[in-house]
Amino acid sequence: MSTVVAIDGPAGAGKSTVARRLAEKLGFTYVNTGMLYRAVAYAAMRSGLDLERIPEDFVASLKLVQEGDSLFLDGEKLEAQLRTPQCARGASIVSKQPAVRSALLELQRDAARKGWIVMEGRDIGTVVFPDAEGKFFITASVEERARRRLAQPGEVIGGATLEKVMAEIRERDLRDSTREIAPLKPAPDAEVIDTTGMTIDEVVSAIAGALGR
Ligand code: DC
Repeated sequence: MSTVVAIDGPAGAGKSTVARRLAEKLGFTYVNTGMLYRAVAYAAMRSGLDLERIPEDFVASLKLVQEGDSLFLDGEKLEAQLRTPQCARGASIVSKQPAVRSALLELQRDAARKGWIVMEGRDIGTVVFPDAEGKFFITASVEERARRRLAQPGEVIGGATLEKVMAEIRERDLRDSTREIAPLKPAPDAEVIDTTGMTIDEVVSAIAGALGR
């Protein structure tokens, strides 16, 4: 068993907030893997690369270091730069590519070597840590996820409407769940939680309860 609680699910389902609070409650380290894919997209855009065709050696050339909640790219701390609609969309595009996924795999596995973690992403329970101690797949209706996204400044462009955000979420869901490698889907042994109408506290308690903590 890996010392990992895997939290997977689609965009806007509340994974980050739930995973962060759960980690605090259990005293585990919180790791957000979406930020790694966003950082690759950010670096690629900055270098003027075609996001659909990231060269194999490009990701290997990036120095990505995760320290707790912080992510450093070649020594630069990245945070707000990654929480933009451009990086979200770019991450979804670069993450389809095998070279990108395999380059980030070891980095993610390394995170569990230092002790217990709560790791959130799309394929943590299926690919990164198939032997995780606990696996949860968090989802919610597209409308509820769009409402949550609209409530997060930075994640949507100014003047975005509910309909536009819903369309963007559907596009991202489709791309994430139909890609050939590591598609977004619950692991067979994951507990699926539909958080529509649930509060963050209720979701965190449900997970902690299922873990027996
Ligand atoms: O969780 P997020 O919205 O920051 O993720 C951005 C994109 O990165 C998401 O659309 C798909 C990709 N991703 C992935 O393929 N695998 C992960 N473990 C995490 C994110």
